[in-house]
Amino acid sequence: MIDQNLKIFTVGIFDSGVGGLSVWKEIIKIMPNNNYIYFSDSAYCPYGPRPQSEIIDRARAITKFLIGKGADIIVVACNTATAAAIKTLREEFSLPFIGMEPAVKPAALCSKTGVIGVLATKGTLSGSLYNQTLKTYANGIEVIEKEGKGLVALVEEGKLNGEETDQLLRKYITPMLEKGADQIVLGCTHYPFLLEAIKQITGNSVKIIDPAPAVAKHLYDVLEQMQEEKLDYEPLKPTETTMFYTTGNIETLMGMARRIVPGIEDEKFNAADF
Ligand code: DGL
Repeated sequence: MIDQNLKIFTVGIFDSGVGGLSVWKEIIKIMPNNNYIYFSDSAYCPYGPRPQSEIIDRARAITKFLIGKGADIIVVACNTATAAAIKTLREEFSLPFIGMEPAVKPAALCSKTGVIGVLATKGTLSGSLYNQTLKTYANGIEVIEKEGKGLVALVEEGKLNGEETDQLLRKYITPMLEKGADQIVLGCTHYPFLLEAIKQITGNSVKIIDPAPAVAKHLYDVLEQMQEEKLDYEPLKPTETTMFYTTGNIETLMGMARRIVPGIEDEKFNAADF
């Protein structure tokens, strides 16, 4: 069971946009008792089509910002940024980083048809982390990969269902279903916001795998190891524990964050201009 007496940490979480809130949601579920700083780099979203060097530059700048705000640990709540930059971040900074893992392993283990689908960005699908994971865990499994072009933008615009979203999702998911996929891995943190729309296409017989709960559990394990040096504190309410920053539109971030935790005050949302 999760120990609710964990001591307080400042956890920095960042993504190219609002997608990482799907990871934040799972983190605060099991650890309401930390301070969180969520950074949405919406002015540079999507990261997917950008060159690796540019994503590294953004990840480095955001890391410095989060450290300046007191982060003890950073969650790279973006598959694309994890693929492009986590190795460099770990080399250049001394604090721990938790990245996104493409959930190929559970999908391959649970598949009865031997066919799985992976929906992710170009940056993630071409990255060595994902391809190494495939080699290790998807031997003998047919993997249908689809680049979810346009989906991140729809989530950023708050278009989580409706005609346009449904059509685009069908374009990517139908070929997976036609090949017999019984597991679909969401390889981008924006996509869990589309879960309802995805399920309308797949029905209940296909399992949709979001790696966020496993990432939250991993963060928990790391913090548990780190907590010896930390002080006790009073648990806080979920509306009070997170400060939000964005390089893009503040209202967009507010809207998505309040879908998860209603009532977060306006003062918690801030503009970042770098
Ligand atoms: N949430 C990011 C990810 O997990 C979106 C990528 C992008 O900005 O293209 O990959």
